Amino acid sequence: MPLKIKATAEGTFDPDGDKLTYTWDFGDGEKTETNTSYVEHTFNEAGTYAVSLSVSDEHGATSRSPQISVYAGNSRPQVKIEVAGNSSFYFPNTPVKYEVTGKDNEEGELKDTDLQSRGYIKAEYLESSDKAALHTATSGGMETSLPGKAIMESLDCVACHKINETSIGPSYKEMAKHYKDNVDAINFLPQTILKGGSGNWGDMTMAAHPDLPLSDAKEIVTWILSLAKEDAKEQSMPMSGSFVPSEKFQLQPQGDIVLSASYADKGYNQMPSLTTVENLILRNPSLKFEDAETSPEVSNITMGGKQIKLINTDNSWIKFSQISLKDVNSIQVNYGMGEITNAGWKLEIRLGNPDGELIGEEILGIGKEAREPSEAVVMIKKDIEEKKLLDVYFVFSRKDMEEQGGIWIIELLLKAE
Ligand code: HEC
Repeated sequence: MPLKIKATAEGTFDPDGDKLTYTWDFGDGEKTETNTSYVEHTFNEAGTYAVSLSVSDEHGATSRSPQISVYAGNSRPQVKIEVAGNSSFYFPNTPVKYEVTGKDNEEGELKDTDLQSRGYIKAEYLESSDKAALHTATSGGMETSLPGKAIMESLDCVACHKINETSIGPSYKEMAKHYKDNVDAINFLPQTILKGGSGNWGDMTMAAHPDLPLSDAKEIVTWILSLAKEDAKEQSMPMSGSFVPSEKFQLQPQGDIVLSASYADKGYNQMPSLTTVENLILRNPSLKFEDAETSPEVSNITMGGKQIKLINTDNSWIKFSQISLKDVNSIQVNYGMGEITNAGWKLEIRLGNPDGELIGEEILGIGKEAREPSEAVVMIKKDIEEKKLLDVYFVFSRKDMEEQGGIWIIELLLKAE
């Protein structure tokens, strides 16, 4: 508090092209008139405010917007996921040890018991890390924290309705079950809450709530209807624990693990609960060339949907920015030689820049057939500052300047065992 908002009426227009006057009602006793479709307002006291707008043209024709609710006085919690090992990558057989912590302006450091009851965490496996998939991965597990529940708790509904058992009125679970397959329920039930009703459940009458904003009634109904899904909802993993990737998921060559954790705070001063979702992506240990930068002479070809780096020039490099090498003992290099070589190509793995600290090296290609896939393992020096995120360079140079053939880098695979 105070809470400053910006309201816009974008999309409002007058078919006659008249000049419009906007009258904003902020629900806190203050009204403002503007000639622009944009206004700022500050709420100084905690509360739920029904904000609405009416627009009039020069001839006195007026139209009113639906009300929207603004909640002032509760701030969003902060959630953090930490993993004990590597924070950039997972390794198939190495347990991922995680812990969810958080804090909230109103609640302080979140206690274990609160995290257990109001928090949620799941691990999902995405076969490719596209953003659309990430979006659906994070929206799960949120039913418990819908604002409707807190709005309901702040009203007189509690006098007549309980979640699980019949009271003066039916329980919310019963209602959810009853309207589960009724797609129109989201439209008429809010009206019933505003107008009251009787005869659907028994002899008792449901009180009317004419002052309740329709948008709040909709939030409540959204929450009520979500209760039908709750039983089918995926259970949260423990708020701290561990899992082995290869046991939990069917691993794919390109897949990433997304941990998403959320916490729904307790609300404050009659304000509904707010939820924060936090994601941590643990990438596939096979470094994605799409994420890499290279020196200008390095070129790409795509084979079987996978990018391959072609290197023909000394001191060419492939760079991966800001990755963790914690627990990485070695890096497997899958490659092919353009031509048979006597001297081979030297690979150096360096930190920070192409001449930076050397953490591993290997000669590649001696005795190998041309254009056949080969494999080498480069051991990683263990005394690097592994907690930090690092820029890692793979630098390639010909051992014998007279030799001509290039080297193809097919895969760079981080290993933790
Ligand atoms: C005075 C007691 C009372 C209060 C207060 C009350 N209700 Fe009800 N409610 C009832 C009764 C009784 C019924 C069953 C009415 C019927 O048989 O149609 C009911 C029915 C409902 C229904 C189902 C309507 C239908 O047609 O199936 C919903 C949804 C509902 N209440 C929500 C709320 C909400 C939300 C609040 C608070 C804003 C609230 N009620 C406050 C007594 C109450």
